[in-house]
Amino acid sequence: MARIIGGLTTSHVPMIGRAIAGGRQQEVPFAPFFDAFAPVHRWLDERRPDVAIVIYNDHGLNFFLDNMPTFAIGAAHAYDNADEGWGPPPPRRFRGDPQLSWHIIQSLIADEFDVSTCQEMAFDHAGITALDLAWEGHGDKPVAVIPIVVNAVAPPLPTPRRCYAFGQAIGRAVRAFAEDRRVLVIGSGGLSHELGQFGKINQSFDEYCMDAIVADPEALARYSNDEIVDLAGAQGLELITWLVMRGAVSGEVDVVNSLYFAPISHTGGAMMLIEPRD
Ligand code: DHB
Ligand code: FE
Repeated sequence: MARIIGGLTTSHVPMIGRAIAGGRQQEVPFAPFFDAFAPVHRWLDERRPDVAIVIYNDHGLNFFLDNMPTFAIGAAHAYDNADEGWGPPPPRRFRGDPQLSWHIIQSLIADEFDVSTCQEMAFDHAGITALDLAWEGHGDKPVAVIPIVVNAVAPPLPTPRRCYAFGQAIGRAVRAFAEDRRVLVIGSGGLSHELGQFGKINQSFDEYCMDAIVADPEALARYSNDEIVDLAGAQGLELITWLVMRGAVSGEVDVVNSLYFAPISHTGGAMMLIEPRD
């Protein structure tokens, strides 16, 4: 049977990816952020997931205003990278797991989540940065990936409660897959930031979010989108990707490692690795 063995969350400021690409992790002011991934690397070496389900918000690369699904899932054999804001980067390809993708899609739709299915999907910096933090560098990843996009960009937006329930449905789908898979669920985004208002960070709300993701995700899911935007900035709404992850990694969890480091660029930078309490 497939099992969810852990959940990882991280901010995905493109500068993080640039630092990784240049091997400059120790030269940037947010070096402690990279150091916080050392325990993640050790944990991944030990637990060896086969699949990473990567929940993130597309930033106008694959979906734009003319075609904006609320929830979209990749069902491809492979996903290619795309422009991260500095022109087309060297090509990279990430292996998919179409069999598990289609199982999750069928299960979600039977569960009344009407997702868009994508047999082609450009992989955004939000997904790739998270993978490069988890498995250092730009080499092939030792996991298959299933990209899941949540609209955190253009209204009308899914509510935090709907995102949490969506994650729970993803968790049910994975646990009902008959073949063996060890699955890591990644939520990429946040925490507080607003690209049009650089420097808008709300550290106390971010710290509350990090506690609540672990201990009381339902309280977090009761916030409205407008409340989160007021508290954490327009792009702080990327927090909903963390809620999807936490819905999938259900029940009580232990924190393997977490760090809040602000600012990274103009963002409340944060990471967390959790695992289900057995
Ligand atoms: C930036 C982009 C993002 O997608 C994000 O979540 C934070 C920062 C940026 O361009 O700096
Ligand atoms: Fe973003």
